[in-house]
Amino acid sequence: MGKTRTPIANVPAPIRAVVFDAYGTLFDVHSVAGLAEQLFPGSGDALSRLWRQKQLEYSWLRAMSGRYKPFQEITRDALRFAAGQLALSMRPVHEAGLMDQYASLPAFPENLSTLRALKAAGLPLGILSNGNREMIEASVRNAGMTGIFEHLLSSQDVETFKTTATIYALAPSAFGCPAREILFVSSNCWDAIGARWYGYTSFWINRTGAPLEQLDTQPDHTGNLLTDVLTVART
Ligand code: LAC
Repeated sequence: MGKTRTPIANVPAPIRAVVFDAYGTLFDVHSVAGLAEQLFPGSGDALSRLWRQKQLEYSWLRAMSGRYKPFQEITRDALRFAAGQLALSMRPVHEAGLMDQYASLPAFPENLSTLRALKAAGLPLGILSNGNREMIEASVRNAGMTGIFEHLLSSQDVETFKTTATIYALAPSAFGCPAREILFVSSNCWDAIGARWYGYTSFWINRTGAPLEQLDTQPDHTGNLLTDVLTVART
């Protein structure tokens, strides 16, 4: 039998801050498929998907076993594995090109205006990501989001990854309010559920019509685009 788990709060709470996942939520990780396709015709999509999946698996494995390594390095490791699995001969120049793209991933089109609207409504905003601090800062800069966020919270601050309680604890501590009063927004269903387990009010942006993860818990809210967050956060 498992240990007794912390009960999951179902009581709605006022939202006092909004915190976003970075990869897949604010920044489009699969935009690398374009360059991947140029480099490896016919395999761009598969490489992008396997790369992302491996990156996440390595983050979970390392978090579980206390084997932290910066996310940028995990991202490179995952790229090497994915290329090997797909039998692509990836030269150093290809690897450097793909890693460079990862450092400046474009934001989804509706994101900047949504973030501005939330900020204009008086809500403090943050990012809570597995990414290294410099990866997050560079993506924020490239997306024209400088000055929007009060806190950029990185796995580097705690040397572990989602879904550990240690990393989710960063935002309540930074914003000085309980997790339930923070809206945690992620396009990764497992992350929206991990945040819910921790105690946040969570919002899953299901951009791709993916099925709900079967983890016995649901995000508090679901939408298709970041703009859907406005309906919850501004009320
Ligand atoms: C992140 C990954 C999980 O930004 O997307 O934390």
